[in-house]
Amino acid sequence: MTFKHVTVLLHEAVDLLDVKPDGIYVDATLGGGGHTGEILKQLSTGRLYSFDQDQTAIDYNADRYASEIAAGKLVLIHQNFRNLQTSLQDQGVTAVDGIVYDLGVSSVQFDEGDRGFSYNHDARLDMRMDQDQDLTAHEIVNQWPFNQLVRILTRYGEDRFGKAIARKIEQHREQAPIDTTFELVEVIKEAIPAPARRHGGHPAKRTFQALRIAVNDELGALEDSLTQALDLLALDGRAAVITFQSLEDRLVKQMFREKTSGPDLPPGLPVLPDQYQPSFRLLNRKPILPPAAERAANHRADSAKLRGIERVRLD
Ligand SMILES: C[S@@+](CC[C@H](N)C(=O)[O-])C[C@H]1O[C@@H](n2cnc3c(N)ncnc32)[C@H](O)[C@@H]1O
Repeated sequence: MTFKHVTVLLHEAVDLLDVKPDGIYVDATLGGGGHTGEILKQLSTGRLYSFDQDQTAIDYNADRYASEIAAGKLVLIHQNFRNLQTSLQDQGVTAVDGIVYDLGVSSVQFDEGDRGFSYNHDARLDMRMDQDQDLTAHEIVNQWPFNQLVRILTRYGEDRFGKAIARKIEQHREQAPIDTTFELVEVIKEAIPAPARRHGGHPAKRTFQALRIAVNDELGALEDSLTQALDLLALDGRAAVITFQSLEDRLVKQMFREKTSGPDLPPGLPVLPDQYQPSFRLLNRKPILPPAAERAANHRADSAKLRGIERVRLD
């Protein structure tokens, strides 16, 4: 089985973790196993727990890293990363030295025609990362009320034509269900005025992004998981997060800012008392971006941003 996914910010993200050879690490987004492989190279007696909610990714890496798994160096966990804490607890793990997130979908999920993630492949509207989940893009497009459609298209797609697209969807589905990605693309094209369709990328890009975020509750899962991840970090433990769109990046940036800033105190206090010192520090003030050569070679890298945080004291 091949798994064609080119890892973005491979070394930058793992370097940010500053892997200790005997440490306990987590890769929250296993995918094709790029970051997992790089962390494994740096471990001696340590152990890595790698999560994915997609069975395809788990099966592929079970093969790829069979010897590391047999040696007890790598444990694959088929779970949504929003269940990070309980899944690790089940493994007897209550603190970790580092965790990496490389968010979104892998190229394999995109390119597997039948998953319905891509407006370039004709498939049933699906977009589930976890094949066992009930909610699909088909259900959202065909059953969610107009107002809810407008909300996700404008909020998650940041689409100024969200309302117009929702209205067209409503008109079409009254006649017959919208079953496939290509049918949806036609509906979107009808809703967007011709001049606006000529620039700004594929006209369906924002709608597909919005549906994917909604189907997989991507922002909710990230917020839940990252909160648990920061709680799990041991002293000197680090988290590195790669995002691919502004909503995710904003969430990570705000959460990191909250964790690394002290309370608002009256000015003039000579030294911040110990109990008010933040427990974390930012590893980079500005996000790390992929180098130009990486961006030129891999269009997925275009929008990638890497942020890191370190625990500097225990609460
Ligand atoms: C961009 S890929 C990761 C690629 C990987 N770093 C590599 O180097 O090959 C993201 C992966 O994370 C998984 N994923 C996304 N959200 C998840 C979640 N909430 N829980 C578990 N896995 C998730 C996806 O199924 C996908 O396989």
